[in-house]
Amino acid sequence: MCSLISYAISFLLTLTLLLTLSDGAYQSPHPCPQPCRCLFFEGLQSVYCNRTGITAVPRGIPADTQLLELSGNSIGHISVGDMAGLVNLQQLYLSSIGLLANSVDNGALDLPKLDTIDMSGNNLYAIPTFLSTRMITLWFLDNHLTELRSDSFFKYGLLQYLDLSYNTIKNIQPGTFNPLKQLETLYIPFNNLTDSSFPPNVFLKNSNLQLLSVRFNQLRHTLRDLPPSMTDLDYVGNQITTLPAYGFRSLPNLKTLAFWQGQVCTFFTRTCISFEKRDDLTTHIILMILDDMISSTITNNTFTGLSGLQTIYLDLNQISKLEPGALYPLKSLNALWMSDNNVTTLSSEALDSDRLPQLSTVYIDGNPWNCDCHLRWLRSAVDHARYAIQDPHLITCASPPPLAGKAWDQLKPSDFVCKR
Ligand SMILES: *[C@@H]1O[C@H](CO)[C@@H](O)[C@H](O)[C@H]1NC(C)=O
Ligand SMILES: *[C@@H]1O[C@H](CO)[C@@H](O)[C@H](O)[C@H]1NC(C)=O
Ligand SMILES: *[C@@H]1O[C@H](CO)[C@@H](O)[C@H](O)[C@H]1NC(C)=O
Ligand SMILES: *[C@@H]1O[C@H](CO)[C@@H](O)[C@H](O)[C@H]1NC(C)=O
Repeated sequence: MCSLISYAISFLLTLTLLLTLSDGAYQSPHPCPQPCRCLFFEGLQSVYCNRTGITAVPRGIPADTQLLELSGNSIGHISVGDMAGLVNLQQLYLSSIGLLANSVDNGALDLPKLDTIDMSGNNLYAIPTFLSTRMITLWFLDNHLTELRSDSFFKYGLLQYLDLSYNTIKNIQPGTFNPLKQLETLYIPFNNLTDSSFPPNVFLKNSNLQLLSVRFNQLRHTLRDLPPSMTDLDYVGNQITTLPAYGFRSLPNLKTLAFWQGQVCTFFTRTCISFEKRDDLTTHIILMILDDMISSTITNNTFTGLSGLQTIYLDLNQISKLEPGALYPLKSLNALWMSDNNVTTLSSEALDSDRLPQLSTVYIDGNPWNCDCHLRWLRSAVDHARYAIQDPHLITCASPPPLAGKAWDQLKPSDFVCKR
């Protein structure tokens, strides 16, 4: 027993020594303030004081520090003197340190190179005025914002990346985003946004906006008046039940358009992002419309404007009819996913290879196909089309009676006949 303990102690001592040595290898030449750790990491002189129990910004942070991590402490106050001299500081992490609106003196964060700030997890009810006017990136997750005001970003015109996830934003005042002319990425998922939260033309001045996520809010309609610069638009987890006719015509650069209402993401940055990072979903352009979002007919106008779309997921809807020209606006369409719908027949015009030159993969199983002479072309296409119709053994006929329940790999085109 005794030897076991002494063995354990000597093991721990060795481990501590090893860790200390390996730390030392990366240490900044300047003394590191206790109890922080100073490392050169990913190209930045970094000082990590996170979760160390400190209650104030430590004294003696080296002047060459580029990244300062103070998260997870209870730091009551930050005054101008606390940060003075950090002329090289670029990134400042202040998440979950109990900040209130008056916890930071104006000017305290006015450092010449500070362009990235994390203010997540504090007790802030408004975008504070004490942030750096040079900010390019702001994380403001998990605070208590209920409203974005027309003066919220007045001072922060250089912002390119803004993350407001996990607040309770309900209202956005007209003009709120007008100062953000450089803004490229805007995350507002997991808030309390409804259709009426967005005043008309609220994105009018954001001519560089590319990514907007309004994932898991309470929208019933897609947003209007988005700038043509948009490339990624994420509506996952809202209550959108109709797609606007011509709704995407003003967004010629759209690459990703995500609608997915059935999925519950418990934690945005884990479940949902990792889902998006699946190969086929990042490299392609997506339209995911699941559950009962689309019913009945896809018209010639439904997809107008989506000329860059490469992959379209229409699985698990109740689509019963596709007008012959419905897919023609999708000039870049590569993969059509249309399994598990209610389509009984399809015109040969619908998958015309001349109108859909990139089309290479088609999923149509799980539909109640009426295998008569009008659909013979589609059974022939399984063998001969330029695109591949996947899983013929899963594609079955619902009618006429002699063919009901038969799979297409067991049938020939000549079996598809009309009664005379
Ligand atoms: C401090 O933050 C860094 C990342 O910013 C993280 O890798 C590290 O685990 C954190 N340390 C503690 C003690 O939380
Ligand atoms: C915001 O939405 C969440 C979940 O959608 C809900 O639990 C919460 O009560 C809402 N808060 C407000 C202030 O409406
Ligand atoms: C839809 O487009 C197809 C192919 O261009 C055309 O034949 C058909 O008449 C159109 N339908 C309507 C309702 O416009
Ligand atoms: C499928 O389409 C048929 C008509 O073709 C209709 O009677 C039926 O209600 C539809 N089913 C669903 C689930 O929409």
